[in-house]
Amino acid sequence: MKITKCAPSILAADFSRIHEGISLIEASGGDWVHLDVMDGSFVPEISFGAQMVRAVRSLTDLPLDVHLMIEKPENHVTSFLEAGADYITFHAEASVHAHRTIQLIKAGGARAGISIVPSTPVAMISELLPFLDLVLIMTVNPGYGGQSLIPECLEKVRTLAALKSDRGFSYEIAVDGGINRETIKETKDAGIDVFVAGSAFFGAADPAEELSYMKNC
Ligand code: DX5
Ligand code: ZN
Repeated sequence: MKITKCAPSILAADFSRIHEGISLIEASGGDWVHLDVMDGSFVPEISFGAQMVRAVRSLTDLPLDVHLMIEKPENHVTSFLEAGADYITFHAEASVHAHRTIQLIKAGGARAGISIVPSTPVAMISELLPFLDLVLIMTVNPGYGGQSLIPECLEKVRTLAALKSDRGFSYEIAVDGGINRETIKETKDAGIDVFVAGSAFFGAADPAEELSYMKNC
């Protein structure tokens, strides 16, 4: 059976006790910590910035998976590298010179990911696929936790999985938004390597059990 990694999103954690949230991710078998950075422009809400990434870095050795939902991500890559990000994912819709942004992330020693919103086709990032370490398919319109998965987005996962095996690309495929006990199976069947879970993890009565179910189902 293919091993699927889980990246719990701290967006759904209690920010006043963030150390407990990180400990819970570690104790529950989370693989990465997903950090949703929102700027109030690319998406409506503002969440947190590099300072939060630095704080979380001091609490864990797990890989930090930073998801930039911000305009002009290229202007902020250096701050997130310095804060200790292991993966930096930005939106194709927010960076004209996306290839340059990928090079900037890699030159700083992190892995580079790109994300696309539900209305953006895989074709928009086809020229970038050979350079990517991660492709993050948004399965909700980004901006808020706790939304319902849009099943049509999984077709993009299938497309990316087929392109990966046909052309020998090395990116990992991740999904983000509305992943829970009900949606995980079809998501896995589509061909993911990693899934993000915010409310399904932090909102669960038993987060460790929930994560274990989702990873192993
Ligand atoms: C959505 C964020 C997600 C979010 C997922 O804008 O990018 O990472 O935290 O939350 P859930 O799992 O609750 O849909
Ligand atoms: Zn995210």
